[in-house]
Amino acid sequence: MEITINDKKIDYEHASIMQMLDSAARIGRSADRDDIKDILKKVKEHIVIHFVDEEFIFTRQHPMPAEYVELHVNDHKRIQNEILLAIDTADLDSPDEIASLIREIREAISRHIREVDAQMNRYLPGGEDAQEER
Ligand SMILES: [Fe+2]
Ligand SMILES: [Fe+2]
Repeated sequence: MEITINDKKIDYEHASIMQMLDSAARIGRSADRDDIKDILKKVKEHIVIHFVDEEFIFTRQHPMPAEYVELHVNDHKRIQNEILLAIDTADLDSPDEIASLIREIREAISRHIREVDAQMNRYLPGGEDAQEER
């Protein structure tokens, strides 16, 4: 992943979520129903735990401006409500639907990392002044 965050734990979690989505996409068409269900459940859990980890960092560990916190939390909520919720209702018998769901999750997460997570850098230790744009 080209985007890096000034926090090793976050970078590690981003890499591991992307790896998980890549392998889900790879085996999506050949795995059986129970395996797919299992993989999607793990992807969802992993992303939700990651959101909690980030929210701890920007609200507690390195409190960031309220405006940014609100924007970031809202985008996590949007991803959960619009995309992760679709995992529960997806037709697991349709390889096409599973493939497009995985693609949709991947795109949403990578856009979120580029557009929202990356903004944390300027507020993290070693980052620029909170008032400045990177
Ligand atoms: Fe993230
Ligand atoms: Fe985030």
